[in-house]
Amino acid sequence: MTASWPATLRASLVANTSIASRWVQFATISLQGTPAVRTVAFRGFLCDLLYSASAPPTVEPAAPAAAHALVFATDARSDKVQEVLRSPLVELCWYMPETRQQLRIAGTAVVLVRGHHTRIAPESPASAALTRYLEQSNKPVSAQLASLGDAVWTGLSPAARSQYLWPLAKTNQPGSPAGACLSLELSTGSDGNDPEGKIAAANAEAQSNFALLLVVPSRIEMLDLFIQPFGTVTEHANL
Ligand SMILES: Cc1cc2nc3c(=O)[nH]c(=O)nc-3n(C[C@H](O)[C@H](O)[C@H](O)COP(=O)(O)O)c2cc1C
Repeated sequence: MTASWPATLRASLVANTSIASRWVQFATISLQGTPAVRTVAFRGFLCDLLYSASAPPTVEPAAPAAAHALVFATDARSDKVQEVLRSPLVELCWYMPETRQQLRIAGTAVVLVRGHHTRIAPESPASAALTRYLEQSNKPVSAQLASLGDAVWTGLSPAARSQYLWPLAKTNQPGSPAGACLSLELSTGSDGNDPEGKIAAANAEAQSNFALLLVVPSRIEMLDLFIQPFGTVTEHANL
């Protein structure tokens, strides 16, 4: 890898446009201490999502890992959220089908906990680096984190938003009455008439289940199948 890892990853994302190139295998350590892996969709880099509507900040060359934290949307009720809160070290495995590259990204994850005072948890060197990065702006950290949550939420399709009302697939528990009967997808097609406040209630409930995971990379290893013989190139990211 000649460029720094954010540039390399960005170049891969430009070269890979299929939806599958946004699906990442996200591995955590389960509460039982065993490996746990699942697919998640990449939503963007922290610096892009935070500053899409305004001029991008000058990213401190010393802190690209925090600025380019990888952002994923998830359900606050899901296992991976509890797992990250307990054991924040994670590994991602990301296959770019068009360029036939595998990126293996080790890092530390934080959960963005939304609420009156939006914050990140758990405490770690990565969460400290994220906070330092956010403190470079004049806006309070909590307000920036809230904007980040809003930006990802509004970027989701109505169908994706309605999934936050579903019961978790694993539990097979019935969802809330709102979740069982009301799809936000349908609600967006309505004329805005919501006399009983059902749509507003469903929207609030869906948002209360919505969380973000941010991964601050510490090591990135790339395997390029187009380069013979195969070899991996590893880069370490400084916090
Ligand atoms: C193509 C694909 C994309 C997915 N994207 C996400 C996602 O962005 N966020 C998410 O939480 N789960 C996503 N899932 C579901 C997860 O893989 C997983 O089943 C779910 O989050 C529960 O995981 P957990 O119980 O280990 O937390 C996706 C699944 C597939 C097949």
